[in-house]
Amino acid sequence: MRIVLVGPPGAGKGTQATRLAEKLRIPHISTGDLFRANISRQTELGKLAKSYMDAGNLVPDEVTIAMAKDRMEQSDAEGGFLLDGFPRNVSQAGALDELLQTEGIKLDAVLDLEAPEDEVVKRIAGRRVCRKDSAHVFHVTYSPPKQEGVCDVCGGELYQRDDDSESTVRTRLEVYHTQTEPIIDYYRAQGLVVTISAMGPVDEVTARALEALSGK
Ligand code: AP5
Ligand code: MG
Repeated sequence: MRIVLVGPPGAGKGTQATRLAEKLRIPHISTGDLFRANISRQTELGKLAKSYMDAGNLVPDEVTIAMAKDRMEQSDAEGGFLLDGFPRNVSQAGALDELLQTEGIKLDAVLDLEAPEDEVVKRIAGRRVCRKDSAHVFHVTYSPPKQEGVCDVCGGELYQRDDDSESTVRTRLEVYHTQTEPIIDYYRAQGLVVTISAMGPVDEVTARALEALSGK
């Protein structure tokens, strides 16, 4: 399957993407994780991306699209992929459509995770991610690691993302409403959108997502 995951910051896109990708046996492609990996390797792309991410703004389309395209063209993504955090505005959605058209492939679904603002703010405030791999995500109360400050998956150090400060979260939410939400209508016009509630325990949300995707 080829799926796009969309939803506000903190809705649980990364959390669900890891589980769905495993169940559906497709790679989880997160542009946020790819940027963070570049930041930790101190690449030129990482340095550029960091300034935008720390302010809560989108990284420019040109570099983002090139990075996503490069990742989607790797051999493990031939049979399908789960995109998390890309596309994030209508221009990126158009670029993705062009890319898919060139390859003669189509998206199967756009899974829209809905969560109220007060909940996403709580989820972000308690989030801790692994320094070795930011796809390993925890929460101090909702899904605490076995040992405080240590990643259960790989033993890496857990930290709070630089863009998880209160003021940056406010900007990220605004950017989501003004720039990202319009892609939901863009994809609705293509009949691809399935909307589910992201509220409740992680397992329940995963079950809901799989059920919604099975109709696609
Ligand atoms: P990105 O990394 O994509 O961040 P985001 O969209 O703001 O989303 P988050 O990762 O904050 O939230 P999430 O929905 O993944 O939630 P999570 O599963 O972690 O992007 C960061 C930045 O990179 C952007 O601001 C931008 O600058 C740049 N960028 C990335 N892509 C770009 C693009 N395409 N174009 C331009 N710029 C781009 O969960 C959150 C917390 O809640 C965790 O602690 C988790 O344990 C907990 N939780 C999850 N589910 C539940 C549940 N059901 N119940 C209770 N707690 C839960
Ligand atoms: Mg994420």
